[in-house]
Parts: sequence; C-alpha cells; structure tokens
Amino acid sequence: MNINSKSISEIIKSRTSIRTFNSDLLANEDKKKILDILKDTNLNTPFNEQEQHCRFEIVELESKSPEEKRKLGTYGFITGANQFIIGITRKSEYVKEEFGYIFEKLILEFTKQGFGTCWLGGTFNRENYAKIIDMKENEYILCISPIGIPANSRRMSDKLIRNAIKASKRKKWNTLFFEDDFSIPLTKNNAEKYAIPLEMLRLAPSAGNKQPWRILKEKNTNTFHFYWKIGKNLNYNKLHKIDMGIAVCHFDLMIQEMDLTGNWIIKQDSTFKFDQFKYVITWIGE
Ligand SMILES: Cc1cc2nc3c(=O)[nH]c(=O)nc-3n(C[C@H](O)[C@H](O)[C@H](O)COP(=O)(O)O)c2cc1C
Repeated sequence: MNINSKSISEIIKSRTSIRTFNSDLLANEDKKKILDILKDTNLNTPFNEQEQHCRFEIVELESKSPEEKRKLGTYGFITGANQFIIGITRKSEYVKEEFGYIFEKLILEFTKQGFGTCWLGGTFNRENYAKIIDMKENEYILCISPIGIPANSRRMSDKLIRNAIKASKRKKWNTLFFEDDFSIPLTKNNAEKYAIPLEMLRLAPSAGNKQPWRILKEKNTNTFHFYWKIGKNLNYNKLHKIDMGIAVCHFDLMIQEMDLTGNWIIKQDSTFKFDQFKYVITWIGE
C-alpha cells in the first residue's frame, strides 16, 4: 500500500461514513482495485510485529435475495452497497487495537481511491455473516464495512443517524489532550510539531462518535501516553479498544508522513495511572 505518497491529512479529512451508495454494480476494474488493496501484506502495527491476527474477506450481495440480505442486518440501513468487507480476527492480547489500526489503514486507502465505507461494529448480524464466509473455529467477525461508490447525496435516514450522534463534530482539544495530568489541557503551542498528528487523531471515526481517546503528553518531552475514557455505555466500552487502534493509526500515519522519529511501547508508567482512564500505548518521540 502506498498511502504515504499522497497527503495523509487530506485523506483523513475527506473520509466520512457512507451509508448511502450508488446501487450500480461495481465495474470489474473497481473490484480489482479493492482486491489489490486487501492483498497488501505490509500491515504491521505498533500492536503486533510480524504476526497478524486479522484477515479480510469480501462478500458479494448481488446474487442474494432480499430475504437473504435482510438476514444480514444491514438491509435498509446501508443502501445500495453490493459488497461488504468482513474483518475476521483470532484471539490475541491486542487484537482489537491491531484490527482498528489495520482496518482504518485500509479504509483510508479505499477513501483515497474514491470508495465509500462505513465502520460497522454493532448494526449487522454476525452469526448470519459467519454462515456465508469460510471461517475457522477460533475466528470471530469483529467489524464489517460496506464498500462501493457513494451516492450523490445522503438519504434522509442517513442524515438522521448523523444528526443523532453529531457525526460531523469532534470534541475540543481541551477535552482530549492533556499535559502531565488530566486536569491540565495541552495547547497546540505546547504540542509543537505534534499538533498536526494530534489533530489528525481528533478527526478519527469512533463507535457512536464517542471519541473515547485521551492523550497525555509528558511536559518538556515528546512522550505521549494514549488512554481511553471508560464510559457509561457498556456496548460502546467494548468497542473502545478498536477506536484506540484507529486513533493510533491516524497519529502514526501522520508522524510517518512528517518524518518524526521515535518508538511505540506498551508499558504503563506508574506515575501516569488513572482509575477512569484505560492505558493503551505510549509514543516516545526523539
Ligand atoms: C469501531 C466502530 C464501530 C462502528 N459501528 C457502527 C455501527 O454499528 N453502525 C453505524 O451506523 N455506524 C457505526 N460506526 C460509525 C460511527 O458512527 C462514525 O464513525 C462516527 O459517527 C463519526 O462519523 P464519521 O465516520 O462520518 O466521521 C462505527 C465506527 C467505529 C469506529
């Protein structure tokens, strides 16, 4: 995948969840582009090294009857899409974060190529999807996404969903980014060259647009600790590790594009332990 040859910030800014697709069948050339992106094997993340615990399959709905489509749980809710990408995982300590990173990287590549996508972690029928794809015993479908050409305009129910969860809005910097302690907001000035990677993180998609990410910078260093805030809704809490993988993906792709060097480590510093925030990973910039 050659995502670094185009401006990652432009791709991140142009991505949005698409639930209304052009229902024309995809041209063979487009299908090939999608398969080529999925075939990319360079999918290491800060959460896994050589071994990958996720894989992706495409399900074509063209030949399925309305009844079969209804059973998949996205019928009527996602309209016009004839193809879905199914994200399949197997157990591993950081598999949700790894999956979030990898699937988002693929989604950004699809966005770059003009395809529409929508992360789906809840509103689909896992069991019925599992019946129509080849799955091993220890595998589990984590999330899926429709893929296709976005329709010219969003339909009314799509707009209503977006309004209900304020999908186009993001929390302010002073709610998300902090310095040394969660009572001291991090300013863009103090973030210095990391202001842009943090801004790209802020634009990330998240389940229910909950934006659980909270980042703590150690003063006078380029060390950033990544956490998620425990919320009241248990269903969303279950998806927050995936949200964190997505957030790390945006931050990481941006620092790569800016040639900022450093290392990712997963090691919680006891000075930075907080009851209501779950630690995920640390970036130590040079
Ligand atoms: C892990 C995850 C799971 C999601 N699950 C669903 C879902 O089940 N149904 C849905 O309509 N949108 C789902 N979304 C999409 C979010 O609602 C959307 O990303 C958020 O509202 C921000 O809007 P945007 O993607 O247009 O920026 C999910 C997003 C993420 C990251």
